[in-house]
Amino acid sequence: MEELILDKKQDETRQGEAYAPAELLQKKFEQHFYIESYGCQMNFADSEVVASILQGAGFGPTRNQEEADLIFINTCSIREKAEQTVRKRLTTFKSLKRKKKTLLIGVLGCMAERLKSKFLEEEKLVDLVVGPDAYRSLPTLIEEAAGGQKAVNVLLSREETYADIAPVRLDSNGISAFVSIMRGCNNMCSFCVVPFTRGRERSRDTKSIIQECTDLYENGYREITLLGQNVDSYYYSTSQDQLPPVTFANLLEQVARIAPDLLVRFSTSHPKDITDEVLHTMANYENICKYIHLPVQSGSSRILQLMNRTYTREWYMAKVDRIRSILPDCGISADIIAGFCTEEEKDHLETLSIMEYCKYDFSYMFFYSERPGTLAARRYTDDVPEEIKKRRLEEIVALQSKLSLESNQRDIGKSYRVLIEGDSKKDKAAWKARNSQNKVVVFPKENHSYKIGDFVTVTITACTQGTLLGTIVNH
Ligand code: 5AD
Ligand code: SF4
Repeated sequence: MEELILDKKQDETRQGEAYAPAELLQKKFEQHFYIESYGCQMNFADSEVVASILQGAGFGPTRNQEEADLIFINTCSIREKAEQTVRKRLTTFKSLKRKKKTLLIGVLGCMAERLKSKFLEEEKLVDLVVGPDAYRSLPTLIEEAAGGQKAVNVLLSREETYADIAPVRLDSNGISAFVSIMRGCNNMCSFCVVPFTRGRERSRDTKSIIQECTDLYENGYREITLLGQNVDSYYYSTSQDQLPPVTFANLLEQVARIAPDLLVRFSTSHPKDITDEVLHTMANYENICKYIHLPVQSGSSRILQLMNRTYTREWYMAKVDRIRSILPDCGISADIIAGFCTEEEKDHLETLSIMEYCKYDFSYMFFYSERPGTLAARRYTDDVPEEIKKRRLEEIVALQSKLSLESNQRDIGKSYRVLIEGDSKKDKAAWKARNSQNKVVVFPKENHSYKIGDFVTVTITACTQGTLLGTIVNH
């Protein structure tokens, strides 16, 4: 089944393309790797860690598959469709392997973890299978694979955070970067495969995070997104240096203090973990963007319980009220699943009504897709017929389109200070930026000499459902 996403620009399940930073492409390496990433932002950040490890082992990046000695595909298992996409991609790599016998193909990430050595048996062309916590072993595994052995490492770790590895920024505009602050997830939402593919939750050493963010700022970056499956449960304590434990609110504050012109974003928040302390920290620092991605999944308390989300409809609504009372101008988005096990029409109507109540600025919306091994797959029957799932999802998408448009219309006449991220995709004579609430803002360059990485003030004059359109305010 096709999954529907309201706005492709906001699509969390980004797909692919190869990439590499220009300065590395110019360097001379004898052997080259090509890497493609699928799925969540965490996977894209992991590919940057992988690139760093490979570079340390003497491999240079390439954007050209034909030139590659190693092809990696960093995979996603969140829904069946994500896995199908990867399988299709692997068959296209087959032809390259026919032409170049020494070419090695490696599967990384969640699908590697889920299928383990089964991958080698099923997909005969795969040489390496490496799970999300085993990337340090890549150089050894590559040697083994080059020697004709099948190389697999899917061990999950309770400690690995790759804290000391400086990621090689791939596909970067030199302005915005993702910094991962934790790995894994302990939540066990019943539909979700992530706890099985990414293991137990662990937080990264605070010092290494601040160091990475400071380095990024000094290298010209002006926007950092702190990443984790559940950032609000960040908690770092060490008995060594007798410092008090660091919570997510503390971490956010430390990052915000690096410089006032460094924008700070974060993703993803679990409603149960986001605290008043975090909300007040957001209110206290202008450079912390006023935007929270707060997945609701369903508006029905009965379904939420089956999903093991640990909150009710009313509790979630009260959390949204709290956000709005502390941060009146905060953007809020959600993830929503249509057609979870046993979902009835009245549950679905509750999902629609909670969306109206929360007035989400945008949402990521999905059909329920049963994942092997999850609690839901073991305990419940995937019993909502496909056409009903589809119809409900369409209703959710239609409502979100209306809410997004209304939300954007409310912004007409307002002015925002935004960071220029690059050219507008459709019009090279216009810039693209995002406001604090994470909405895309597009405006003509006019005769100004602004460049990527500059801050400008833009007044919103019009909008579509997915974009705010504006003009630069002349000073
Ligand atoms: N089926 C459909 N959507 C899912 N998600 C996670 N697991 C599934 C599944 N089995 C969605 C949730 C989550 C987002 C990242 O993906 O909405 O928040
Ligand atoms: Fe999956 Fe729930 Fe963890 Fe998110 S919080 S990764 S949905 S188990």
